[in-house]
Amino acid sequence: MAQQSLIDTFKRAGQGQVFAFFDRLDAAQQQRLLEEAAEIDLAEIDRLTRTLLAKGAAAGVNLEGLAPAPYEPLPENGGNAADWSAARAAGEEALRAGRVAAFTVAGGQGTRLGYNGPKGTFPVTPLKQKTLFQVFAEKLRAAGQRYGKPLHWFIMTSHQNHAATEAFFEEHKFFGLDRGRVHFFRQGRMPAVDFEGRILLETPGSLALSPDGHGGSLRALDRSGALELMKSEGVDVLSYFQVDNPLVRCIDPAFIGWHLNRGSEMSSKMVPKAYPEEKLGHFCVQNGRLVVVEYSDLPMAMQKETDASGKLRYIAGSIAIHVLDREFIRRMARAGSDLALPFHRADKKIPTVDAKGEAVKPEKPNGVKFEMFVFDALPFAKNPVVIETRRADDFSPVKNAEGVDSPKTSREDQLRQYTRWLRENGAQVDTDSTGLPSVTFEVSPLFGYDEASFADSWKKLSPKPEIRDGLYLE
Ligand code: UD1
Repeated sequence: MAQQSLIDTFKRAGQGQVFAFFDRLDAAQQQRLLEEAAEIDLAEIDRLTRTLLAKGAAAGVNLEGLAPAPYEPLPENGGNAADWSAARAAGEEALRAGRVAAFTVAGGQGTRLGYNGPKGTFPVTPLKQKTLFQVFAEKLRAAGQRYGKPLHWFIMTSHQNHAATEAFFEEHKFFGLDRGRVHFFRQGRMPAVDFEGRILLETPGSLALSPDGHGGSLRALDRSGALELMKSEGVDVLSYFQVDNPLVRCIDPAFIGWHLNRGSEMSSKMVPKAYPEEKLGHFCVQNGRLVVVEYSDLPMAMQKETDASGKLRYIAGSIAIHVLDREFIRRMARAGSDLALPFHRADKKIPTVDAKGEAVKPEKPNGVKFEMFVFDALPFAKNPVVIETRRADDFSPVKNAEGVDSPKTSREDQLRQYTRWLRENGAQVDTDSTGLPSVTFEVSPLFGYDEASFADSWKKLSPKPEIRDGLYLE
């Protein structure tokens, strides 16, 4: 009965093709297809078809009135040192009060890296080959110890990698974290549609579903009960980072403090773009609101614009690190379509079936996937603040198998970071002109996860070790 009414609803919405092969499926397959169909918000698909797929729908983003966004420079680049130290103090106080939790978006498919498995299980450190998840786990464990309050850690997975992610943490005994404070939840899924907005089948008995983008994390945090848990634990600040960046300061007191001192609902970190073509989103203002314009959406001529001093005008690159206020997330998650995150359209080659139910592997894009981006929440946030960070201390992602943003570049940046910390504390390390040491060693986050924690541990260490191949500081 309920089954027939679901099928009828799809037919009335012009989506009857979803059940074209229903009679050929066995009972279990029918059940699965019905469950997938029940997940779909047909009104949302209809709205996206009318707005994003309609002939004449605006292609690309609206660039009217766009200007570079202001940001808070680091003290060494002209920022106000007193504001930065007040921020650090406020962040540390919030950490000691247990108001902060960490959040990793790990639902992506890691296609560019060509790695088969949850990206967080990819080995990244120079000596011990620790995985991304282990690096974050140890940074969070160390920060919890430093501030006397163990942190909650939320990890957003996808349907594809959820079970494998949980199993990985089990296998590694949660890397010494209290398992009651590590929370996994799946992000939502969206169906792919053809260019007329008809939902595509991947097989006769299943829909072509894919993750709804990292912007789906706001809804998923609400739906999964994470926001309620935060509330009951007295947590109102969420430190957000991507799974691909081992250098990230998972917990950065100065950043948290800027967010709190400004009464911000969502804050972000920027690095000055290294060169115009660098593939980073750009912090901009438009109609008095903070927005991020993706590298693919900002015309190259604008990415190359310079000011009178020759500096790039659109210099503020987004490295996808944010701090979010709990109640802001709830508001965004529950907002009606006009105030909620917009969907972006991506034309893709989507494996599907033909009229006979035979598999089709298209050679050119045959349909559209819909995704939300978390930075699209910025224009809705009160008092958003963007702060500068040192790239070398916050950003060296692993995105590609080779070349830029690869395992090799990230490993080398980790070695340069350990070297800087050592030198700042008086140790002798031989390097080339880029600061890369001639030997391979490693600093565990449990020894030091930022300059301050490293300096404290190094002071206590006696005798001081020689910096040689294979040295591991833990
Ligand atoms: C992203 C940003 C870009 C920023 C850059 C910095 C977008 C659209 N662009 O680019 O502005 O400058 O990072 O590194 O995000 N993820 C999910 N679920 C999804 C999709 C992605 O959890 O449905 C997660 C991934 O696991 C990953 C992160 O989001 O942790 C980034 O996704 P990715 O698609 O690799 O973004 P980039 O194109 O690298």
